[in-house]
Amino acid sequence: MSCSSFKFKCLQYFFILHIFASTSILLSSTHNSSINNFLEIANSSEVFDWMMSIRRKIHENPELCYEEFETSKLIRSELDKMDVPYKHPVAITGVIGFIGTGLSPFVALRADMDALPMQEMVEWEHKSKVDGKMHACGHDAHVTMLLAAAKILKHHEKEIQGTVVLVFQPAEEGGGGAKKILDAGALENVTAIFGLHIAPDIPIGEVASRPGPIMAGSGRFEAKISGKGGHAAIPQHSIDPILAASNVVISLQHLVSREADPLDSQVVTVTKFQGGSAFNVIPDYVIIGGTYRAFSKQSFNQLRKRIEQVIIGQAAVHRCNATIDFLDEVRPNYPPTVNNGDLHEHFVNVAVNMLGINKVNSAVTPSMAAEDFSFYQKVMPGYWFWLGVQNASHKRLQSLHSPYLEINEDGLPYGAALHASLAASYLLKYQQDVPGVERRYLDEL
Ligand SMILES: *[C@@H]1O[C@H](CO)[C@@H](O)[C@H](O)[C@H]1NC(C)=O
Ligand SMILES: *[C@@H]1O[C@H](CO)[C@@H](O)[C@H](O)[C@H]1NC(C)=O
Ligand SMILES: *[C@@H]1O[C@H](CO)[C@@H](O)[C@H](O)[C@H]1NC(C)=O
Ligand SMILES: *[C@@H]1O[C@H](CO)[C@@H](O)[C@H](O)[C@H]1NC(C)=O
Ligand SMILES: *[C@@H]1O[C@H](CO)[C@@H](O)[C@H](O)[C@H]1NC(C)=O
Ligand SMILES: [Zn+2]
Ligand SMILES: [Zn+2]
Repeated sequence: MSCSSFKFKCLQYFFILHIFASTSILLSSTHNSSINNFLEIANSSEVFDWMMSIRRKIHENPELCYEEFETSKLIRSELDKMDVPYKHPVAITGVIGFIGTGLSPFVALRADMDALPMQEMVEWEHKSKVDGKMHACGHDAHVTMLLAAAKILKHHEKEIQGTVVLVFQPAEEGGGGAKKILDAGALENVTAIFGLHIAPDIPIGEVASRPGPIMAGSGRFEAKISGKGGHAAIPQHSIDPILAASNVVISLQHLVSREADPLDSQVVTVTKFQGGSAFNVIPDYVIIGGTYRAFSKQSFNQLRKRIEQVIIGQAAVHRCNATIDFLDEVRPNYPPTVNNGDLHEHFVNVAVNMLGINKVNSAVTPSMAAEDFSFYQKVMPGYWFWLGVQNASHKRLQSLHSPYLEINEDGLPYGAALHASLAASYLLKYQQDVPGVERRYLDEL
């Protein structure tokens, strides 16, 4: 995942200024309350030190998809200390907390909890203590920032005009934890959801996002290409699956380069090619696998259809048979992450107010990576943004999913304050926009 282009165009300035003017009522009301102190509170040494200790504890003990038992326990123990009620377990290790009146409207904030199956290569005091597991996507920081937002919001609970729903979800890295949270019905009456992701290439105190599609939809495929094995020196007695699979890989490249609209970004990448074990034996079969990405459902389905046709057709050219598995049962495909336009206005308002106009990139280039936050956005308005955690003194290019990822913890107060502010001011705005909103009680509160 990556971000680029922080250069602002004049148009974008106008856009933001326009939003400023049109929502001055909202801004004055949020100014009036203590919402604009949130960054100060998050950055106080008391909250900051507490955040560091939590982030480092989670970093030292990374847990994979749906195994976030200790992380979940730590979250619950912190929520207990704050006197924040929650539901657990939701989606195996998930925790859903509630702050505010317990009445509608409900606005959700989401943090993912899982780590990655990779070895940390950074030598530091709080390096992962578990071999082969690492928080290389910053979900340790996400959990920490949401807990800090909870702390801030709890202190201001009387000012909250509705209920903030804290979503600590498992298994973002391929497991589709967001979908499981939704399937459990835990977010039934929520009217909007916000999520953020650390970005190690964006400076501290800056954010980046955009309305509309920001991350692609993602699917996987695996194919078995079967021929007939035999002696490498007598190819006429065999049907060679290595050559067939090689041509399949080449042909798959033509889907994006020749069949897709060049202005509609798509990716097909073959990441797996397994077959054979000797120098002088043609194997019986080859397994290939990979991923495909697109921003629209139509392009996504078209890619999928053509991947299947090309694999079967190209294998047949070489007298091989092919079977394809899109692995739908094992792990869900991720839909594209599409930011709601109204929530974008809200985000720009809050972020510009807190960080200043030069620190908010509201037209970041979308990424072909994927995020399971998209599942929430399929059922309710949702908004997701990048939060800067760059360490300016680093020489090495930092990227997510790198064993060398180091995040600048000075960025965490900004994420906590933005979370808290986005939710609290959303609820204020909602009450203003929908005056006679029917108040519903949330179960068990
Ligand atoms: C705004 O400030 C006034 C005076 O401090 C206070 O009485 C009022 O409750 C505040 N309104 C909100 C929405 O916080
Ligand atoms: C946060 O606190 C640190 C240390 O007290 C200070 O140097 C920094 O300017 C503060 N940042 C903000 C945004 O208040
Ligand atoms: C492909 O499938 C057909 C029909 O099942 C079968 O007759 C043929 O032997 C298979 N070819 C290979 C190379 O496995
Ligand atoms: C930034 O990187 C430098 C050099 O690696 C390191 O000494 C420093 O502690 C880092 N700062 C933060 C806040 O992570
Ligand atoms: C959502 O609201 C409906 C109607 O008020 C209620 O029956 C239901 O229990 C609520 N769902 C949750 C998860 O609170
Ligand atoms: Zn990741
Ligand atoms: Zn991530």
